[in-house]
Amino acid sequence: MPFLSSLFDAPSRWTKLDPLASRAGATADRLLPGGRVRGLLHGRPAGHPLHPAMAMLPVGTSVSALLLDVAAVLVPGGAALGAPARGLAAASVATVAPTALAGWADYVDLHRDQQRTAIVHAAGNAVAATLWTASLFAGRRARLLRTAGTLVAGGAGALGGHLAYRWAAGPNHAEHLFHLAGGGEEFSDVGPLDDLPEGRPAQRRIGDAPLCVLRRGGSVMAITDTCTHLGGPLHEGEVKGTGEGTTITCPWHGSEFRFSDGEVLDGPASTPQPTVETRVADGRVLARVVGPPR
Ligand code: FES
Repeated sequence: MPFLSSLFDAPSRWTKLDPLASRAGATADRLLPGGRVRGLLHGRPAGHPLHPAMAMLPVGTSVSALLLDVAAVLVPGGAALGAPARGLAAASVATVAPTALAGWADYVDLHRDQQRTAIVHAAGNAVAATLWTASLFAGRRARLLRTAGTLVAGGAGALGGHLAYRWAAGPNHAEHLFHLAGGGEEFSDVGPLDDLPEGRPAQRRIGDAPLCVLRRGGSVMAITDTCTHLGGPLHEGEVKGTGEGTTITCPWHGSEFRFSDGEVLDGPASTPQPTVETRVADGRVLARVVGPPR
């Protein structure tokens, strides 16, 4: 396995972290308020995960401070850059807590391999924040502490990127369905109406794209079946409401999506679910994936 990949994969196998990982999850569940506040931390109102967007603040300010510190050494009269670098370090410290809070909210629903990696990512960032904080009171050693903090944060940030890209913690898990279903150009036959159970969601497919299909009498509604959060099977979830307000709740972590527009109404998902248009003709159900909500 390539060196970088095996280096960043290592924390996912550190089972000694499991007691801490469990405690961190249980504590987040107890301390972080549910409902709207938790939704805000996940990024639900923005339709985008909040944690990676927030992470730009401590990263941007600390890297800017690092550049000023380098310039202070290289440029004649650069000592004057110490004050703005210190201000940027203070901004890094101030933005760490809300960034960590958003990450902690996302952490709760990750599986154990992801959680172990997230614990090491968080520990690295905690060390970085400690060094940045110490730099605010350090006098002549301030530049050294700021730089050390930013280097540690760089490693922790790279691990966070690995967690997102390699371990798929955070990305939209349903993005591919529109393309798998043929790009929504035409309606596809997904089977006889009479084969669908009344009032209970069932899985049907357009090609390789799974759909969650709900029959009520002679009408049918559907939504893509792979939850945008972490890929849970929506057709195993609970249906609520009627008409345009009908929703399905993911059985894995409780994200609730509206059939009509894919909107996330509750739970940890921040990305709306790709929607499906349906028709019934000659006793057959026709469907097409309309696409990711925009
Ligand atoms: S997979 Fe997490 S809410 Fe659906």
